[in-house]
Amino acid sequence: MRNWINPEAVMSPNEYQKLIGAALALKNTDWESKGAVLKSRAIYFLFFNQSLRTRSSFQTGLAKLGGIPVVLDPQAGIYTPALPGREIPYATERISDVARVLSEYGDAIAIRMYGEPAGWVYGEAHRAMVEFSQWASIPIINMECDKFHPCQALADMITIREKFGAKRKKIVISWAYSGSWHKPVAVPQSVLLASANCALDIVLAYPEGFELDEEIVKLAESKAQLSGGSLRITHSFDEAIEGADIVYAKSWCSLKHLPEQYGDTVEEVAMTSLFEANRDWIYDDSKRLRTASDSIYMHCLPADRGQEVTDEIIDGASSAVFAQASNRMHAQNAAMVHLLNPGALE
Ligand code: CP
Repeated sequence: MRNWINPEAVMSPNEYQKLIGAALALKNTDWESKGAVLKSRAIYFLFFNQSLRTRSSFQTGLAKLGGIPVVLDPQAGIYTPALPGREIPYATERISDVARVLSEYGDAIAIRMYGEPAGWVYGEAHRAMVEFSQWASIPIINMECDKFHPCQALADMITIREKFGAKRKKIVISWAYSGSWHKPVAVPQSVLLASANCALDIVLAYPEGFELDEEIVKLAESKAQLSGGSLRITHSFDEAIEGADIVYAKSWCSLKHLPEQYGDTVEEVAMTSLFEANRDWIYDDSKRLRTASDSIYMHCLPADRGQEVTDEIIDGASSAVFAQASNRMHAQNAAMVHLLNPGALE
């Protein structure tokens, strides 16, 4: 694989499960022996959006593997990389030029872009990611666009594998309320595809109006068939979680109320009222009692406590959120080694 844009979509279930095995093997190898696996390899990190986990785990992981992390600020420190037609004189620089320049110096370009920097047009940030990949002669790593968050999904599958092994388990991927509508659909979509690759029995739960990308749901259905898992959709949170082994409850925006054209605005009033009508979609102890006795709660973080999930759950014994955060670094290390020194994973 040359790029890391949406591995959970393009890899077969078999390939994806092998990658989880490789990531776990890398995690369980001592640092000293893997210290020089990416010696002197430079990766450019472009964050168009805020980040705690992705930013710190990528930089730390690459440094521990012997590489050179270079963080570039697309909003201030450099000319903002832009697609044709989105350019502003002496403020932006065409993505094709940025990609080719950075390819002259380093070994990969990692990008986070969703939401406002892409005008909230669904798919526009992903288009920028693909544009980078078409012009760069070095790999592109997706650190979250508006369609996919492959690093999060791989970390989550590693976490599930560590807890339950490769057993067939029921995962509920559920929408949850938040006081902000600004969370993209990248996490639920990537977790959906990754879960389908891993032969999990998936229940996708959301109030009407929070449908995910139809093409991605169809792809997940075909992956589930291939892997031996299953996928169904419900609009009842209570019904979904009955007997669940894994509850992944988090908020995401309604694609219906995003603009279709760049320059148009988000339908904020309709978006907000759809959120407010579903304030009861919070994961709490009363819901946990309906799940399996050893069920885990997952969230990519940052979580909106008291809105998406209660303190009791996120700080409680069933919470896997810090194991997930920890596995971000191991998943990304595997991705970086997979792209830049694949022989080291064998
Ligand atoms: N889960 C996640 O991607 O966290 P950050 O936004 O902090 O990077």
